[in-house]
Amino acid sequence: MVGLLTDFRSIRDDFPILRSRKVIYFDSAATSLKPTQVIRAVRDYYELFTSNVHRGVHRLSMEASRLYEDAHEEVRKFINARYLDEVVFTSGTTQSLNLVAYMLGLSLNPTDNVVVSIMEHHSNLLPWVTLSKIRGFKLRVVGIKDDYKLDYDELSSLVDRNTKVISITHMSNVLGTLVDVKMVSKIAREVDAFLVVDGAQSVPHIPISVVDLGVDFMAFSGHKMLGPTGIGVLYVRKEVQDSLTPPFTGGGIVDSVKYEGGEFSIKFLNMPWRFEPGTPNIAGAVGLAEAVRYLRKLGMDNVEAYGKDLLSYALSKLSSDELIADKILIYGPRDLGCRGDIIAFNIVDSNPHVVASYLDSYDIAVRSGLHCAHPLHQRIKAESGTVRASLYIYNTKEEIDAMVNALREYVLRFT
Ligand code: ALA
Repeated sequence: MVGLLTDFRSIRDDFPILRSRKVIYFDSAATSLKPTQVIRAVRDYYELFTSNVHRGVHRLSMEASRLYEDAHEEVRKFINARYLDEVVFTSGTTQSLNLVAYMLGLSLNPTDNVVVSIMEHHSNLLPWVTLSKIRGFKLRVVGIKDDYKLDYDELSSLVDRNTKVISITHMSNVLGTLVDVKMVSKIAREVDAFLVVDGAQSVPHIPISVVDLGVDFMAFSGHKMLGPTGIGVLYVRKEVQDSLTPPFTGGGIVDSVKYEGGEFSIKFLNMPWRFEPGTPNIAGAVGLAEAVRYLRKLGMDNVEAYGKDLLSYALSKLSSDELIADKILIYGPRDLGCRGDIIAFNIVDSNPHVVASYLDSYDIAVRSGLHCAHPLHQRIKAESGTVRASLYIYNTKEEIDAMVNALREYVLRFT
């Protein structure tokens, strides 16, 4: 671990904002910082390659197309998918999850049901709520246990032959709870349901093999894993592709469109282009590819181990400090084996926004509020929200100490 820590400390130099701004950045679950390598790759695209993709035979367009296709390949390797055509680029997790929901949900009937969990971010909840109202299918919600883990018994009991889709988070953006996706996959397979996984928080932090996990769809964003905003991914398992028609259409996704006898007939391109209508976010894709290269170079095993080390340090500091321990309520599993590096907490009798503003006065950036997960906050009885410190590869134990000190001051002054 000592070797690991030394390496991770040196990467801080790669993040220009850590030099230009005085900040302890604990808001990576909202969006991560960007290394110079990614910023440079985006700039290079605009300075050296600007042109559209898959729409020209001129050299610039060919070069941009190659960069864009290479970006798909980088992501394929990163998530250990088998084929490049399983990697669809979107604008982010939200678009990816809406895309799947509309693709699968519009053909469901009132006798069908879709299963989600109470931990879902609104992006994996509201599309299904909307579609269940349009199509009349039932939306079943699996709860969590008091230890903040998914209630797997309830999941098993809610899934039946009428379950067509299980759509679930891999890592809660509030609790950090990791869901055992392999187990959920087994349950889904037993009833032939599609398995959709929201990987927005997990993919940046832990090694992912979509094959090993046994998912049909996996959604994640570039901007939470060192990449630019506005680019994201939807993994679509090859075996399910034939059953899918793109819900959103436009330019760049068809082989041919014919108008004969008053009828239009459309022949779509192969995957993944069939699901990427319109001019894509080419610069974003190029930046995401660079982010993926950066993470692969660090090694996702190392990224995970570093995150766990920071998490364990932060949790033990916060819960053992003689001033804070009695005044803080920390949410999320104590068992680090099923938890990512996100810490949601409250200071007793304190509004989370007030605590976050206090930390901001010490240049410590955390998120506060309901984190686009209102039903979950109801469940954990934190209706006013939580303070959330989310950690990543550029954070250090000294930064955690600084947060603990600021919280000590807060507790002394205001509680
Ligand atoms: N989904 C992001 C978060 O949890 C924005 O903060």
